Amino acid sequence: MLIFLVGYMGCGKSTIGRTLAKQLGVRFLDMDTLLEQRCGKSVAEIFTETGETGFRQSEREVLAELTSEREAIVATGGGAPCFFDNMETMNRAGLTVYFKMSPEKLAGRLEHGKAKRPLLRDKSEEELIGFIRENVAKREKYYMQAKLIIDCDGVRDDYIAHHIAEYIETKKEQ
Ligand code: S3P
Repeated sequence: MLIFLVGYMGCGKSTIGRTLAKQLGVRFLDMDTLLEQRCGKSVAEIFTETGETGFRQSEREVLAELTSEREAIVATGGGAPCFFDNMETMNRAGLTVYFKMSPEKLAGRLEHGKAKRPLLRDKSEEELIGFIRENVAKREKYYMQAKLIIDCDGVRDDYIAHHIAEYIETKKEQ
């Protein structure tokens, strides 16, 4: 099964994705890493050189390539579901899982992870929470189109991975 993990920056897509892939014995793929390999540049450099428009275009191309995978866990970039028809593309190609997390929790987790994220790196500590609140509000209509929505506030990573694995099992039985 092809599984796309979606959700805001800092919600745990990559960490949990890696655990889950190990558990299920399938490949783990990270969209941002694939994009960086493809462009030979970091996400931050791509944003600086081509702007967000260029970044979203490359992101879309990486996603198009990913849809031909048969079995993998894919950690998507936080903005990926919210541009073009990317969310529809993912829903057609496989199982989409939204890691839902409150802006307060996200802000706490992102305070130290701002530097490598172009959309956040210039925000002061005070600005961060306001930006995340607004941005999540805009993005949620896309995220909520996921087939499985997990409320991640206060839930341990290993439990989330376990929950997804269980969901997949029940789907197989149906
Ligand atoms: C982005 C999220 C990042 C990365 C880029 C833009 C976003 O990925 O794709 O910095 O718009 O939310 P992560 O969600 O892995 O941080």
